[in-house]
Amino acid sequence: MLEAFEVLFNRTSGPPLPLPPALQSLYRQLAFPARTGRPYLISNFVSTLDGVVSLGIPGKSGGGEISGFNPHDRALMGLLRAAADAVAVGAGTLRAVSRHLWTAEYAFPELGPDYQALRTAMGLAPTPLNVILSGSGRLDLSAPVFASGTVRTLLVTTPAGAKRLERRQLPEGVTVRVAPTEDGVTVGASDFLAEIAACLGRPEPLVLLEGGPRVMGAFFAARLIDELFLTLAPQVAGRGDSATAERPGLVSGRRLAPELPTWSALVSAHRADSHLFLRYQFAH
Ligand SMILES: NC(=O)c1ccc[n+]([C@@H]2O[C@H](COP(=O)([O-])OP(=O)(O)OC[C@H]3O[C@@H](n4cnc5c(N)ncnc54)[C@H](OP(=O)(O)O)[C@@H]3O)[C@@H](O)[C@H]2O)c1
Repeated sequence: MLEAFEVLFNRTSGPPLPLPPALQSLYRQLAFPARTGRPYLISNFVSTLDGVVSLGIPGKSGGGEISGFNPHDRALMGLLRAAADAVAVGAGTLRAVSRHLWTAEYAFPELGPDYQALRTAMGLAPTPLNVILSGSGRLDLSAPVFASGTVRTLLVTTPAGAKRLERRQLPEGVTVRVAPTEDGVTVGASDFLAEIAACLGRPEPLVLLEGGPRVMGAFFAARLIDELFLTLAPQVAGRGDSATAERPGLVSGRRLAPELPTWSALVSAHRADSHLFLRYQFAH
């Protein structure tokens, strides 16, 4: 049994989610502001003390190496997935963790029945919609997120990406949506969100964005991220002289400060051992 998070600070607002007892003992309370007719976008990342989110080494480039495979980080990831209508990632993240499924149970199987109880109490489908964003359409369609049949998957791509996929057999349960693009390779962040809402048939879903850094760049630049759940892992990863391409931070591909000031407010802070679990809200 996982020891409870220590709640250091909590200024969250909104109706608390109906957490079953095990999740309540673990995290105490989880609430999101009342919706306002549009998708609510939360993101979740783990970073080292020096801001590295991927070691950039084949086979060791996932979040696990960053968090030290920390069980509290995985349990919180599971909790956020359990509360979400959809979990979205970019194709780069899928390529880095190609066997992954973006479900609560996959993140932390030990709490699987409790996550399911939460989804049932919230009136949600058993698993969140898994959403992949790819400009190129160059994807391994045998990856479990497409081929396992255990999740419903939405693939959002450009007209060029769709053309590449047209020639291939798509597994059942995978929906492809083609979103507009101005430059031929990127989908606008708001168009991406609109495709998710349309696929879910809900105007104001809770969407959990799990990166990676390039997708985060697009969403921060579009002012669409409402919240960031950031785990700070107590290790220093370091970078070579070639700076950030190989070991990115939370955002890459976009400059935000100072042209696009992107400040936030801390709304909660939890601790487990020496890991900090910080929650920030952005007011755009
Ligand atoms: N520490 C953490 O919490 C955490 C979380 C997530 C990811 N990561 C790590 O981050 C690394 C991946 O970084 P990344 O920046 O390459 O990943 P990413 O943002 O997941 O993926 C980038 C790819 O997504 C597609 N994409 C992104 N924005 C798009 C847009 N606006 N329109 C169309 N397609 C778009 C493109 O796919 P195409 O190439 O198909 O065009 C692009 O190459 C991995 O090592 C992963 O493990 C760490």
